Amino acid sequence: MLQRLLYSSKAAPLPTPGEEKALVDEIVAHASQNNRRVGVTGALLFFEGQFIQVLEGPGDVLEDVFERICCDFRHEMVRLLDLQTVPSRIFAEWGMASVVDSENASDPLRAKLGSIPFLAGLNAGEAIRELRAAIDEAQIATYEVAH
Ligand SMILES: Cc1cc2nc3c(=O)[nH]c(=O)nc-3n(C[C@H](O)[C@H](O)[C@H](O)COP(=O)(O)O)c2cc1C
Repeated sequence: MLQRLLYSSKAAPLPTPGEEKALVDEIVAHASQNNRRVGVTGALLFFEGQFIQVLEGPGDVLEDVFERICCDFRHEMVRLLDLQTVPSRIFAEWGMASVVDSENASDPLRAKLGSIPFLAGLNAGEAIRELRAAIDEAQIATYEVAH
């Protein structure tokens, strides 16, 4: 049974702006490899000290992955926002896609990224669709999934 999970958390300690990309790249390189092995796909957003992550895959596998993530000392205040059985994947191409806010991003993209943490607590489905749109726009999702 395919499930999709959405959570938010706060980076701990907070990286400096210069460290953000490296932190996310390190997490994603490892996550992507692990996820591919077990049939998990998803996306990770980092915006103003917060992580928003979507994970999709078989329910029992997601539970294992999320349990590991919850224990990770690189973040705190992990809040599960949504968990649903879904008919198909939204991030099928990526073991873990990533978007990091940056001053170099265009204003419309930054506005879109900034709306996602806010939306995530109100309307998970909408937040997930916005995240997918932002990734398509940024074209910075790098970790392709081999099928
Ligand atoms: C914000 C965040 C997101 C993460 N996402 C994933 C993930 O999607 N998949 C994963 O396997 N590990 C993820 N991790 C890393 C896990 O917490 C953990 O370090 C890792 O799964 C351990 O893998 P290993 O047993 O191969 O060393 C994430 C960590 C953080 C802080």
